[in-house]
Amino acid sequence: MSDSNWQARLLAPTDPVEVMKQKAALRALEQVSSGMKLGLGTGSTARYFVDGLGAKVADGLQVICVPTSEATRAQAESLNIPLAELGDLQRLDLTVDGADEMDAQLRLVKGGGGALLREKIVAAASDAMIVIADDSKLVENLGAFALPVEVNMFAHQATAQAIADVLRQTGNAGEVSLRAALPGGAEAFVTDGGHYIYDCHLRQINNIEQLAAALLAVPGVVEHGLFLGYATAAVLAGSDGLQEVGKL
Ligand code: 5RP
Repeated sequence: MSDSNWQARLLAPTDPVEVMKQKAALRALEQVSSGMKLGLGTGSTARYFVDGLGAKVADGLQVICVPTSEATRAQAESLNIPLAELGDLQRLDLTVDGADEMDAQLRLVKGGGGALLREKIVAAASDAMIVIADDSKLVENLGAFALPVEVNMFAHQATAQAIADVLRQTGNAGEVSLRAALPGGAEAFVTDGGHYIYDCHLRQINNIEQLAAALLAVPGVVEHGLFLGYATAAVLAGSDGLQEVGKL
């Protein structure tokens, strides 16, 4: 299988940020070899990874994958990438996924695309997780991007109140808002798991580990978008080229 064959079949974005995202995705793809069990992330950057993987699968690469969302499942199926249930594979060799924010310690905020629950389940079952992103996602302090919290629909307003209390108790006062399906729309966004998402607008997240644990202790909270201890490496693409954090 020659590299140029499969790469020639990929769409070449023209927007500079999209070019960066694709570069990061293709660098992560170099870590994939036949026989691997993979977690497939969700979002516009992960999409480039799945596109590249599909092109390599068409050229004979043998992998088996678990998608982290229905959107990624549909994309992978359209590319004939073999899929399996995580329960049948149990452990995965590698997950490649995007992030909304990342700090130098590879701590992440995820869930901007609403797939945080499945993304975290898949990341937790993976021996390694590579984050792919443009370098604007690397931040000194997490929190400028609103922290998503996925909640059960039952009495969700009460759960939101309890989330606001937890934020205050952990030194993180900020607005909590129900995510809309469309920006400014009246209809709430519903996740693949049939839950709502509340976004916590904090500007900067303080006492991260304490906040993560306290959010999970709220009845009605299904999962939150703080990914602590999951990412093992990151490939960040900028106008100057690729930057790697951690060991690929
Ligand atoms: C989806 C996610 C995405 O990985 C995150 O939103 C980054 O997406 P993009 O690559 O489009 O910036 O967490 O739930």
